[in-house]
This record gives sequence, C-alpha cells and structure tokens, in this order.
Amino acid sequence: MNTFARIAGTGSYLPEKVLTNKDLEAMVDTTDQWIRERTGIVKRHVAGEGQTTCDLAEQAARRAIEAAGRQVDDVDLIVLATTTADKIFPSTACLLQQRLDIHGCAAFDVQAVCTGFVYALGVAEKFIRTGSASCALVVGAETFSRIIDWSDRGTCVLFGDGAGAVVLEAADEPGILSTHLHADGAYENLLHVPGGVSRGFDVDDAEGDPRYTHMKGNEVFKMAVNTLGRIVDETLQANDMKKSDVDWLVPHQANIRIINATARKLNMAMDKVVVTVDQHGNTSAASVPLALDVAVRDGRIRRGEVLLLEAFGGGFTWGSVLLRY
Ligand code: UT7
Repeated sequence: MNTFARIAGTGSYLPEKVLTNKDLEAMVDTTDQWIRERTGIVKRHVAGEGQTTCDLAEQAARRAIEAAGRQVDDVDLIVLATTTADKIFPSTACLLQQRLDIHGCAAFDVQAVCTGFVYALGVAEKFIRTGSASCALVVGAETFSRIIDWSDRGTCVLFGDGAGAVVLEAADEPGILSTHLHADGAYENLLHVPGGVSRGFDVDDAEGDPRYTHMKGNEVFKMAVNTLGRIVDETLQANDMKKSDVDWLVPHQANIRIINATARKLNMAMDKVVVTVDQHGNTSAASVPLALDVAVRDGRIRRGEVLLLEAFGGGFTWGSVLLRY
C-alpha cells in the first residue's frame, strides 16, 4: 500500500508585542494610509527583547502536537524553516528538539526565506512517503524584525515575527497531493541581507547596512505576481484539476495586492482566500502555516477540503503544495 502524508494538526504563535502603522508613523516618514493602501497591513507582531525564533517555534509546535492528538515522543522528524536562526549552529530545529525533550530523531533547518515552510513541507512529505518518518513536525518560524533596518521605510513597514507549525503523519490516503519547489538564484540582489558568516557582517555593500534586509520592492512585486500565477497553473495541471476544485487558497502573506492577483488568476472569490497580512504583516517562513492555523481554528477550513498553499521569496524561491485537508 502507498504511504501518503496528511496534516494531523496545526498550531501557531505570535509574540505579544504589537506594532501598529501609527507606531511606525513615529519612527519613519510613512503614513497609515500609505501602508494600508499599498500593502494591506494594519499591524504586525514583533518579538520582545530576548525572545528568539525557537521560543516562538516551541509554542507553535506544542499547539500543533496537541491539535494532532499526539505526544511529543511520537515525533520522529523535525524540519524547521527559518531565515533568522537563534544561533549559527546548532540549527534551530535541534534547539527546538531539545526544548521538546525529544532525542534521536533527525532535525534540521531549511532556508528558503518566505518559501521556507512550503519547502519544509515538501521535504517532510518525501520522508514520510519513503517510510523514513511517520510523524513529522514541520515548522516555519521567524524573528524577521532582527534583520530589519527600522529606519528604512521601504522594508520596516512590511515585516513581522511569528511561528506556525503542522504535524504531518503517514496515512493510507492523501493528504498532500503534490508539492512544487523552485528557485532561481539569478535574482539574489533584488531581495537579500548582504552580510553573513562567510562574507562577514562588515562588508562594504553599496546598498547599505549588510546586517539588514534590502529589497527592490517594485521589481520583487512584479516577479511575485507573475511567478505565483504560473505556479497555480503548474499545480492544477500536475493534478489534472480545475480552478474550481480548489476550496481554499492559503497564500504567502506579503502584500494584499499580490494575494488579490493570485486569487483573480484562480477565479477565486476573496472569501475563499485566507488573509492574515492585515494582522501579521509578512512573517516570511511563518506566514503560510500561521494563515493555515488561523483558518483551521476559526472553523473556515474543514476536513476533506482542497487547499492550495503557495509562496514566493528571496532567492528567488517559490513553491506550492496542493493538499486535501
Ligand atoms: O515576501 C517576499 C516577497 N516580498 C514581496 O513580495 C514584497 C513585494 N513588494 C511590495 O509589496 C511593494 O513593492 C512595496 C509595498 C514594497 C512597495 O509598494 P510599491 O507600490 O511597489 O511602491 P514603490 O516602491 O514603487 O514606491 C512608490 C512610492 C515611492 O515614492 P516616489 O518615488 O513615487 O516619490 C516610495 O519612495 O512610495 C514611496 N514609499 C513610501 N511612502 C510612504 C516607499 N515606502 C513607503 C512608505 N511610506 N513606507
């Protein structure tokens, strides 16, 4: 019998501290109106002093394990997507494993920036389908606020912190129907943090402080809209499905205008699209699992429905997951 992978439970966590558009008006030359009209964002959560990506991930993971009706000891794989690891090493997945007091199972991070969770889900699904794992904890967690220049209005209004998680378990029926992962490294400089362990954090970069996120927003916007439109087609074709077969779009939450464009491409009414960008901003790898958990917990997404998860981010990376929930 074939082994498939299904989502058994979801969880998420947002740090307590909230930053509104009004708060940002006092920090940079921006307005609440500009941020709402150009991005759809109203507020975002940011990690408190000393609060780390692993702290957020732990809360989301525990909630997902509880929702799945599982125990931490059942987990036999941890895949954690993040751009903002607590330490250079060990991986944040290993730190999370320690927090959960699990010992021995494989645990590693995946780095695909905003597409990170979609990548992590794609990887974990392969482990389950090949019989290498039967109960995977898949997490997207970020403290993106740590790599933001809070004096740069072009980026600081966009991002937020948070974590989302799912428990993925072996099943006789899907579950995950297909995953589609892509990257094109040629676009490195449109969206990046120039510094790093190997290059150093004091490199002389023409674009500014190498510790922080730099983005050519308008060019990224156009690429995101076109690329996400294409991946919708690719995903439906691979499954021989029609647009109308999709019950819910759970998109990466970067900008409401990008989400609207993808929904239009799917002929989908906005009440079938999970939108959290207004409340969370762009939480990078956490955005898709956070949105999924919100819509599962408020009862919108029900068992048996078909969900299209998609994301686009630095790299560029992009991907989708089609699944029956
Ligand atoms: O998750 C990873 C993928 N990331 C994304 O998908 C982000 C994609 N990009 C975007 O969402 C949008 O491009 C932004 C929201 C970043 C910017 O919106 P835009 O409509 O593309 O604006 P723009 O960059 O073309 O800038 C328009 C104007 C400029 O002023 P001028 O040159 O027309 O006078 C900017 O300087 O808006 C100005 N501006 C701002 N004004 C007030 C840029 N940022 C701000 C701001 N407040 N925060």
